[in-house]
Amino acid sequence: MKKILITGGAGFIGSHVVRRFVTQYPTYEIYNLDALTYAGNLENISDIEHLPNYTFIKGDITDVDFINALFQQHQFEGVVHLAAESHVDRSITDPLSFVKTNVFGTMNLLNAAKTIWKDHLEGKRFYHISTDEVYGSLGATGLFTETTPYDPNSPYSASKASSDHFVRAYGETYGLPYVITNCSNNYGPNHFPEKLIPLFIHNIINHKPLPVYGDGKYTRDWLYVIDHAIAIDLVFHQGKNHETYNIGGFNEWQNIDLVQLLCQKMDEKLGRSAGTSVQLISYVKDRPGHDLRYAIDASKIQNELGWEPSVTFEEGLEQTIDWYLSNEKWLQHVTSGEYQQYYQKQYS
Ligand code: NAD
Ligand code: TYD
Repeated sequence: MKKILITGGAGFIGSHVVRRFVTQYPTYEIYNLDALTYAGNLENISDIEHLPNYTFIKGDITDVDFINALFQQHQFEGVVHLAAESHVDRSITDPLSFVKTNVFGTMNLLNAAKTIWKDHLEGKRFYHISTDEVYGSLGATGLFTETTPYDPNSPYSASKASSDHFVRAYGETYGLPYVITNCSNNYGPNHFPEKLIPLFIHNIINHKPLPVYGDGKYTRDWLYVIDHAIAIDLVFHQGKNHETYNIGGFNEWQNIDLVQLLCQKMDEKLGRSAGTSVQLISYVKDRPGHDLRYAIDASKIQNELGWEPSVTFEEGLEQTIDWYLSNEKWLQHVTSGEYQQYYQKQYS
C-alpha cells in the first residue's frame, strides 16, 4: 500500500499512529486529515512534519463535497479512521455533535472509499478505530470479547457503536474491506487534560482539587498509547478483513487506586513530601450513566497477531508523568482559552 489517509492525526492517539506510520514506512505517503477541533493540536506531531512522506490536510470529515473531492484527488489505498469526538462528559452535554462527527463523519468516509474502490477492492482497507465502551458495562467479573453484544450507555459510546455497525454493514452490503478494533482506555503523552490521568496530573502540578466521580470504585483497563499505535500498525497490515479485534492492557484499576498511585508518583517526581497530593482528592457528583467496569479479553490479537503490551503500567505511568513535567508549554497552550470555560462548566 502506498497512499494512506489517517484521520484525527492531530489528536492524542492519532498523533502516535501518524508518527508510527510515517517513521516505520518511508515508502508510504501518509496524509493526516484533521479539523483541529479543541482536541487537535499540530504541536503533537511537530517532530515529523518535515518528513517527505507526510502531508497534513486541515478538513472536516463531515463535509461531503470536500471528502469526496479529497478521495478522488488522492485515490487513497488505505484509511485509518480515528477522527472523533472522544470525551464521555462532553457527549452528555452535547450529544448531537457526537452523532455528527462519529456517525455521519464515518458514513461520509465510508461512502467516499466505496466510490473510489468500487471495482478495485483488492489491496484496499478501511480500518475503523473504536472503543471497548460500545460493549456497555461489566459487573464485578467477566471480560469483553469480540462477540460480546453491543450495549452502549453514553451518547459517546452509542455514537461509536453506531459507526461500528455502519462499517460492518458496508462490509456486508458492498463488500468494503474493513477491520475494526475496540480498545480500552489509553494513557500517555499528548493526552488532552479533560480525561482522568492528564487532568489529574495537571491539577496536581497546580495544587488543584482532584474531582473523583461518585465513590471512585469504577474500574477501567489502561493501555499505554504507544502500545495501541503498535497494535494498530499490526492490525492494519496483518489483520483479517471483516474482523474485529479487542485491544487492552490486561491492566484493570479502580479509579481511586489509580489516583492514589498517581498522587504518590507525582509527589516523588515533584519533590513534595509523601501524602501531599492525596489530600487534593475531592469526591464529586457522579457522571450520569457511569459505566461500572470495562475489562478486555485481548487474547484474539495476542494469539492471532502476536501483540501484547510492551510496558508495564508503572513504567508507562512514569513515562507519562515525565512527559507532562517536561512539556509545560504544551500543557499551558492546551489549557488556555476554551479549556477554561469547559473546566468551569464541568466542575464548578
Ligand atoms: P482526541 O479527542 O484526542 O482526538 C480526536 C481528533 O479528531 C482531534 O485531533 C480532532 O481535531 C479530530 N476531529 C474531531 N472532529 C473532527 C472532524 N469532524 N473532522 C476531522 N477531524 C476531527 O481522541 P483520541 O483519544 O485520540 O481518540 C482517537 C480515536 O480512538 C477515537 O475514534 C476514539 O473513539 C478512539 N478511542 C479512544 C480511546 C481513548 O482512551 N482515548 C480508547 C479507545 C478508542
Ligand atoms: P475518562 O478518562 O473520562 O475515560 P472514560 O470515561 O472514557 O472511561 O474517565 C475514566 C474514569 O475516571 C471514569 O470512570 C470516569 C472517571 N473520572 C473521574 O472520576 N473524574 C474526572 O474528572 C474524570 C474526567 C473522569
